[in-house]
Order: sequence, then structure tokens, then C-alpha cells
Amino acid sequence: MSATTRTLTLTDNETGKSMELPVLSGTIGPDVVDVRKVYGELGYFTYDPGYGSTGSCSSKITYIDGEEGILQYRGYPIQQLAESSNFLEVAYLILWGELPTQAEYDKFQYSISHHTLLNEQIITFFRGFRRDSHPMAVMCGVVGALSAFYHDHLDMSDPEDRRIASYRLISKMPTIAAHAYKYSQGQPFVYPKNDYGYTENLLHMTFATPCEDYKVTKVQAKALDRLFLLHADHEQNASTSTVRLAGSSGANPFACIAAGIASLWGPAHGGANEAVLTMLNEIGTKDHIPEYIKRAKDHDDPFRLMGFGHRVYKNYDPRAKIIQESCYEVLDELGMHDDPLLQLAMELERIALEDDYFISHKLYPNVDFYSGIIYRAMGFPPSMFTALFATARTVGWIAQWGEMLTDPEARIGRPRQLFTGAAERNYTPIDKR
Ligand code: SDX
Repeated sequence: MSATTRTLTLTDNETGKSMELPVLSGTIGPDVVDVRKVYGELGYFTYDPGYGSTGSCSSKITYIDGEEGILQYRGYPIQQLAESSNFLEVAYLILWGELPTQAEYDKFQYSISHHTLLNEQIITFFRGFRRDSHPMAVMCGVVGALSAFYHDHLDMSDPEDRRIASYRLISKMPTIAAHAYKYSQGQPFVYPKNDYGYTENLLHMTFATPCEDYKVTKVQAKALDRLFLLHADHEQNASTSTVRLAGSSGANPFACIAAGIASLWGPAHGGANEAVLTMLNEIGTKDHIPEYIKRAKDHDDPFRLMGFGHRVYKNYDPRAKIIQESCYEVLDELGMHDDPLLQLAMELERIALEDDYFISHKLYPNVDFYSGIIYRAMGFPPSMFTALFATARTVGWIAQWGEMLTDPEARIGRPRQLFTGAAERNYTPIDKR
């Protein structure tokens, strides 16, 4: 980040007081106006509900251009990474800023694959949940509880402790997600295999049983690996901002990631992938699509087209395009190329993208529109979709958390407000009200 010679002049037309606001530039993307001194000099807070126009930090991890539909991890276009890389290599890139050498990759892969087991005591922790608990409720609880088990390396000022906690989380999330599924099915937990790949292991722990191994096909493992790669990070979205805000108080990384999981669960955010399947099942057949498009445009109707629209992308979400292509591969391999749900989704997309409302509002399919169709084809129930998203996004969350802790500008997050409540008034005893 660099200060420019440019400034913006802010003048109070009542008092005539004014100040120069410094303009700061990054590598690429919009410049920012530094408003940190506005309150001190002019007595005003800035106001931006939902932070749609506010930069909360500087970051080197992910760049998004919503108008152009661009997504880059550490400068590498998502299309190139999806084509040529894999989730663990991208995880290393997001965490450390550079693509690994073979030796660095092998060491990272070994470390991640050899920390997948949970402390056996945690297994009993699962048993406190109802069998029909939503997997995201279980993920929130179990991940938050990890700090009760892994408190041997929690000095967050120590880079090695931060690395250990980060690797533990990345390693253990697939195990926790798979155990949450098994618990919901009343099936015994299946333990990780250290010689399996990251997503291959998740499929194994989810669908194998002690009575029968699960044959993970290359297409499935590759498709899930690519989905995880695409979900790994996404700049300062709601759940990542939640992790940063929680971490800014010095909270331990397990508690911060649990907070991120909670935020991601919302249907406006990562919960949308499950909501898309619910919506498609509710629409049922193509002839019902116009009715639902009409509802989505009616502001008096709370119904929204799930998997459509984005706070940043006002163009096609580049991830959605790549996921749609993976849909064909997985469904073809499973002999489901005529999957009615995929056909319905494609028709819904076609109609929506021709509709003036969606065009004028720049509403395109986002990352959640097609991902659920692949997850479902692999055998995951819709309730597991966001747990899979959380597992993949843990890499981004923990990288952003680590970046925040090492940012010299970082301080505890403490937004202000525009107070619109009651002015000062005196207490009246209850018999006088
Ligand atoms: C993710 O931020 C990230 O990076 C998130 C994410 C990541 O990787 O971390 O990309 C993952 O969360 C993707 C988004 C998944 N959510 C959904 O698919 C849920 C459906 N989408 C909407 O709820 C909505 O589009 C949001 C929440 C995603 C974005 O909301 P915004 O930017 O706050 O937009 P808005 O609610 O102010 O809507 C602007 C206009 C409104 O109409 P007007 O009042 O201006 O006339 O667009 C309309 C909205 O009614 N609109 C929709 C719509 N989304 C917005 N109308 C119908 N269907 C929709 N899906």
C-alpha cells in the first residue's frame, strides 16, 4: 500500500472547516480514502451500513474485480489454478504467498495429512448433540471446543504457534465434517487414512463404513478438490470479516474459525448452496420457473433466487462458470447427465439471465448456484453442503486471520454508529408508568 500525492478535500459547509483526506493506492483495484482522522478533525463518523464501500484492511491474499468477474489468489487467476493446481497447493499459496517447490509441497502435504485425527475425547463431544442436529451446528460447537483440547500452542504472538494452530484446523476440518455426517446417520465414525489425498480422505470418512470400503473415483476426488480450491478464499466476505473481527480481540484461532462457521451458515452467505437445492426442489419442474422468477422480482415477496446475486460480482461469478463445467464431468461419470435438477437449474439460469430485472440488477449465478448439484450427485445431503464450504474456506479464514495478526496497522475492531434511539430521559418507577 502506498500513499499518493492525491487527497480529497472534505469541507463542512456549515462551519467552513475542511480537511485533506489522503488517498492510498494498492497494487490493483480502486484507491482508498483514508478517513481515520475525520472524527478527530471534523467530529463526524463515516457511515456505510454493510461496509459495501469500506475497506476494513489491506490484504495481499485475494483480489476480486466484481465488474469484470475477476478472482485471483495471490495474483494467480482462479481459472489457471482450477485448471492446473490442486486444493492443497492453493492452500499453501494462500497461506504463504508463493506456490511451493516440490519439497515445500511434500512437507506441507505430509504435515496436513498427519494431523487429521481428533483428540479421542472430542468424539464424546459429538454425542452431546441430537442425531438430527444440523451439521453446521455441530461444526460450530466442535471447532469452538478445539481450544479446550489444543491449548499447548496458543501464543498468537509466536509465528510457530500460529502455524501449528493453522495446520491443525486445516487438517481436522474434513474429519469434523465427516464425523458430523456420520453422527447424523447413526453410523460409526470412519477414521482418516494418512495416505489419502485431502478430499479423497473426506469422501472416504464420509461414505465408507467399517463393513465396507468406499471406492473414491478420480473424477469425484478431482471435482471435490476443484470445488474446495474455488471456495478457499474470497477477500473480506461476511464470514472472513467475522474471523478477522473475532481475532482482533486476541481470541484463539479455534474460537475465531467457529465464529466464521456461524456467519457462513446464513442463507445469504454460504448457507445459499443448501438453499438452492431446497429452492430447486420447491420449483420442481420447468413450467413452474416463471412463477418463481416473478416472486423473486416482487419486493413484497421475501422469496429470492438463491444462488443468484452477489455484493461484489456484478458480472458472472468466475467460480460458478468453472463449477458448472465440473457438474457435467461428475454427472456424466455417474450416468446422471440428464439429472433433472441440473436441467432445471440450467433452464432457471437461462430464463433469469434473459429477464430485464436480473439484467438491470446485474444478478448472475454465484458460487452457490451449481455447487450443491455436484455435492448431491456425490451423495452428500443438502445439510452437508455448507459444512463442505466451511471446510474449504478454513484455509482462507486462517490465512486472513494470520495476516491480520501480523499487520502493523491492525487494532481491535470497533465500528461506531449513528444513534437514532431515545434522547436522555429520567427513570420512572413502575407504579408511575
Ligand atoms: C456467498 O461476499 C462474498 O464474497 C460471499 C461469497 C464467498 O465466497 O464468501 O461469494 C459466498 O455468500 C455468495 C452469495 C450467496 N447468497 C445467495 O445466493 C443468496 C441470494 N442472494 C441475495 O441474498 C443477494 O444477492 C446477496 C446477499 C448475495 C447480495 O446482497 P446485496 O449485495 O446486499 O444486494 P441487495 O440485497 O441490496 O440487493 C440489491 C437488489 C435488491 O433489489 P432493489 O431493492 O435494489 O430493487 O437486487 C435484488 C434486491 O431485491 N436482489 C435479488 C437477489 N439478490 C439481490 N432479487 C432476487 N433474487 C436475488 N437472489
